[in-house]
Amino acid sequence: MGTKRYFIHTFGCQMNVNDTNRMGEALAGLSYSPTPVVENADLIILNTCSIREKAEDKMLSALGRYRQVKLQRGALIGVGGCVAQQEKQKILDKVPYVDFVFGPDAIGKLPEILTRIEQDRVRVVETAWVDSESYVFPQADPVSSRGKTTEFVTVMKGCDNVCAFCVVPHTRGREVSRPVAEVLKEVARLTTVGVREVTLVGQNVNSYQGGSSFAQLLLRTAQVPGIERVRFTTSHPHDLSDELVDAFRVEPKLMPHFHLPVQSGSNEVLVRMKRDYTVAQYLERLGELRAVRPDIAVTTDIIVGYPGETAADFEQTFALCEQVRYDGQFSFVYSPRPKTIAMLKEQEWGPVPHEVKVARLERLNRLQKTISTEVMSVHVGRTVEVLVEGRSRTNAERRFGRTPHNRVVNFDGDAPVGALVEIAVDFASSSALGGKQVQVRSLPNVVIEEAPVVPEVCVA
Ligand code: SAH
Ligand code: SF4
Ligand code: F3S
Repeated sequence: MGTKRYFIHTFGCQMNVNDTNRMGEALAGLSYSPTPVVENADLIILNTCSIREKAEDKMLSALGRYRQVKLQRGALIGVGGCVAQQEKQKILDKVPYVDFVFGPDAIGKLPEILTRIEQDRVRVVETAWVDSESYVFPQADPVSSRGKTTEFVTVMKGCDNVCAFCVVPHTRGREVSRPVAEVLKEVARLTTVGVREVTLVGQNVNSYQGGSSFAQLLLRTAQVPGIERVRFTTSHPHDLSDELVDAFRVEPKLMPHFHLPVQSGSNEVLVRMKRDYTVAQYLERLGELRAVRPDIAVTTDIIVGYPGETAADFEQTFALCEQVRYDGQFSFVYSPRPKTIAMLKEQEWGPVPHEVKVARLERLNRLQKTISTEVMSVHVGRTVEVLVEGRSRTNAERRFGRTPHNRVVNFDGDAPVGALVEIAVDFASSSALGGKQVQVRSLPNVVIEEAPVVPEVCVA
């Protein structure tokens, strides 16, 4: 019996990227190895996202493509992630060539699921939630991070907020925090394979409750020997504490980038979104952050065309973006999601016509592109510090990495993955800088081989 191969197509956020790694580890225990070529796979898993309708559509069209591989070589097809958790049996009913459906809490059950399918020739659905008290976070195997210098570390799962538009509380359940000691142990283990930068992830990291405050967790992570940079995502503005702001003042390893989704610049819209902060409160918190780290890069998420959003509401969002001058924004048109308050109330609040939504989004994107280009152009002629991550995605002759502010830099140079280098910047676009390596500041303690080719991650 030769080794079987698996291919995982990952959609969505960092939670899913992390879950994909855990799936890989569960499959390694069954002597499956990864392949970047879907046509060679014996097992295909779609790790899905249901944050917007488009994300689901992308899953369905990918499934259509993978059907061929099933027909040609009898590959098994599984659907995991947030659509799986939401739709459960309905996916099997709708798509006859899917063999199994499993939710984010059932990743550890993958071996059992595959055995059942092979022995009993049945189709399987595993979407039970593990409740908060008994949930144990899977410990990442550092082997799956080999080749990387930057890695995500899960610190919590689920979300207890009730933003009226959002499907996450329905797909990921209640918040559960991972104990501090476990997080620190995982960070320390990652340093043994060469990881120098970690991003602590959760849907709502500010409400972390794993035995310390989130700010304390960040400070302790920064003290783990071998860790040079600490980041985190995502934060809800309503619990951005003074202590977290202060962490930026005292800890230089806490990188000067804050992703602070505002969603809208109109207080009326924010109320309907159930975001429980006002624009003024948001700006006040941001002002405090900028007081301690004046150069901090701020990025955001915005929903355009939320039910009831008037032209005047949108102008307020536009004006807010002009005022804040975000480094970047992830903005999308509103998409109604099953079981959410916004979907139930859409008719009452007043749906925004599709063309209006799209026109508003385009205007916002144009504004952001101008601002991003201006923010980036300031660096031409200066030097920036970069942590080398690998070969550039646009030109394999070059390398790429990120600045402390999380700006991508493509450069000419020979520093290995994991080195901290100084780059003289000679080019800027709205999304990346370009330049030449002028000096190596420090090398990693562990030699990192070229990162392997990994299957596509699709941010929906
Ligand atoms: N936990 C994060 C957000 C996670 S979802 C937070 O609270 O900030 C990522 C982004 O998707 C959200 O910030 C929001 O802007 C967008 N989003 C969520 N639901 C959406 C919907 N129904 N339609 C359009 N965009 C949505
Ligand atoms: Fe969704 Fe709001 Fe939770 Fe973010 S904080 S995951 S937008 S419910
Ligand atoms: Fe993430 Fe999408 Fe689920 S954003 S939590 S994978 S719905």
